[in-house]
Amino acid sequence: MLEPDKRLLSGGGIVISDILDKSETIPAAPGLVGRILALTAEPDFSMEQLVRLIRMDPALTAYVLRMCNSPYYGLRYKVASLDHAIAVLGVNALVDVVLSSGLLKVFNNSTAQDGYMLAKGQLWRHSVATALIAQKLAGNLKIKGINPSVTFTAALLHDTGKLALNQFVSQSLYDIESLIYEHHCTPVEAEKIVLGIDHANLGGLIMEKWAFPEEIVISVIYHHDPLLSPAYPDLVKLVALSNMLAVSAEYGKEQSLNLTPLTIAQLMGDMNMNPEDEDNLILEVINWLKPATDMLSMFN
Ligand SMILES: [Fe+2]
Ligand SMILES: [Fe+2]
Repeated sequence: MLEPDKRLLSGGGIVISDILDKSETIPAAPGLVGRILALTAEPDFSMEQLVRLIRMDPALTAYVLRMCNSPYYGLRYKVASLDHAIAVLGVNALVDVVLSSGLLKVFNNSTAQDGYMLAKGQLWRHSVATALIAQKLAGNLKIKGINPSVTFTAALLHDTGKLALNQFVSQSLYDIESLIYEHHCTPVEAEKIVLGIDHANLGGLIMEKWAFPEEIVISVIYHHDPLLSPAYPDLVKLVALSNMLAVSAEYGKEQSLNLTPLTIAQLMGDMNMNPEDEDNLILEVINWLKPATDMLSMFN
């Protein structure tokens, strides 16, 4: 077994504080996203306020309109204004679109994914695919207490820790991969051994720093170990399952890795779905994502 990387661990201390102290390591919360989330959390915010905020960013406005007009939303007419976009999408879907755009800005940084050897845009593509699957599953399963929009956000942000770990991973990728492939560790175990922290826990810390609600923080932390989650079990399982489904549908590079100690079938069984439907579910997911292909490759 490999020794933890001494460059990153000091006196048995964990590297978390080092990473959190380095502001350049943690991507800043995309500014407008934070403001829009804060606004929509207010009980009596108005559509006008929301439109005014989005309008401040012409690129965001263009992105929202492009998303609305993509085949994913299946509209029979063209949406040409933000007011119209809100009217047809509804506030929740619009906030989802804005969030994914904010995340795209962070993910589209050209150096952001080198460490994980992901092509530019791949992590964003995986994250948005996971979010679309989670939202659709949440709507289909109608689990009590599950809000499809919160599910979308939690799933969208589940791998954010990878961005911050990236610069450390590039130095240690060989060690991490040898633990995964030769010692059959999960990626999370391997990151913990080599780096002192894994992307799930680090992602949770970032979500806390960005002041996201607790259910999102918990979903991010436990997305590879959903059965260990101390709270929000249904939401966490939904995010974990959607992550695995996205990878199975080839929206993600982790195809060859054993993502969690659980299989898709086991998780489906735990969520009162028929585990024998696994292959059908993967086919369904591929079909759900087909109309979004355009949208998912928009910024590649
Ligand atoms: Fe992950
Ligand atoms: Fe993932």
